[in-house]
Amino acid sequence: MEYAATIAQARALFGVSPRPLGFVPTMGALHEGHLELVRRARARCAAVAVSIFVNPLQFGPSEDLARYPRDLERDSEKLAGAGVDVLFAPDAAIMYPDGFSTSVDVGRLGETLEGAIRPGHFRGVATVVAKLLHVVQPDLLFLGQKDAQQTAVLRKMIRDLAFPAEAVIEPTVRERDGLAMSSRNAYLDSAQRAQAPSLYRALLTMRQALERGEAKSQAIAAATAVLAPAAKLDYLDLVDGETFEPLDTLKPPAFVVGAARFGETRLIDNLWIPS
Ligand code: PAF
Repeated sequence: MEYAATIAQARALFGVSPRPLGFVPTMGALHEGHLELVRRARARCAAVAVSIFVNPLQFGPSEDLARYPRDLERDSEKLAGAGVDVLFAPDAAIMYPDGFSTSVDVGRLGETLEGAIRPGHFRGVATVVAKLLHVVQPDLLFLGQKDAQQTAVLRKMIRDLAFPAEAVIEPTVRERDGLAMSSRNAYLDSAQRAQAPSLYRALLTMRQALERGEAKSQAIAAATAVLAPAAKLDYLDLVDGETFEPLDTLKPPAFVVGAARFGETRLIDNLWIPS
C-alpha cells in the first residue's frame, strides 16, 4: 500500500492510478463497515484509495473532535490487509492551510434533521469531501447507508457541481444484535453497549407499524416504548427518501430515522422504505 500525506504526494499517486479508481473517505477508527466498503470498491475497481482525516469542520463546538478515536497505525494495517492501494492521510494544516475559507453548502437538505441538530455539520462534510474528490479524482465514491442524510447531501453536491464521480451507497453493516457499526460505538461502556441495539429495534418497530397502516404518532409511540429506558431520544421520524423532510404519512421512498444518546454517546441509525 502506498501512503500520501500531502496533496502533492496524493496527486502524484492518483494521477497514474489504474482506472476505475474507487474511493472510500473515512475519519479512521476503522471497523467492519469501512472494510466492507473497501471490499465493495475492490470488487468493482482496478484500484482503491482510502482517506483518513478527522475533519474539524464537521464537528460543533460541544462535540467530540478532541476525543474522536484515532489510531493511524492500526488503521493502516487493516487497510493494507484489505488490499487498499493508496492511503491518503493528511493533517489539518494540509487540508485547511492558513487563510482557508471556502465552503460548500447544499442548502435546505443540509439544514434539516441532523443538520438542524448539528448546525454546520453538513457544510463541513460537503466541504471536505469536495476537496478530497478534487485531490483523489475517483471514478466511484463508496459511502455507507448508515449516514443516510450524508449520502443524500454528497449525491446532491456531486450532481449540482458536476463532479466526475458516481456515488455508490452500500447497506449498513450491523453487529449480530443489530447495532449499526460506527466508530463511536467504541465510546460505549458495557451497559450502554447492551442498550444501544434498542435504537435499531425501535426503528424496526416503527417501520412495521407504518407498513401496517398505523398513524405516524402511533408508530413513534410504539418505537419509543422499545428504546432502552436509559437512552435519551433525540428523534424518531419518518422522512422523505430524497429531501429528508418529515412526512406525515408513509409515502415511499422514505426513511425511518433515529438518533439517541447512550450516556454521552450519540448514535444515529435508519431504515430504508423503498417505493
Ligand atoms: O462519514 C464519515 O466518516 C465522514 O463524514 C466523511 C465522509 C469521511 C467526511 O469527513
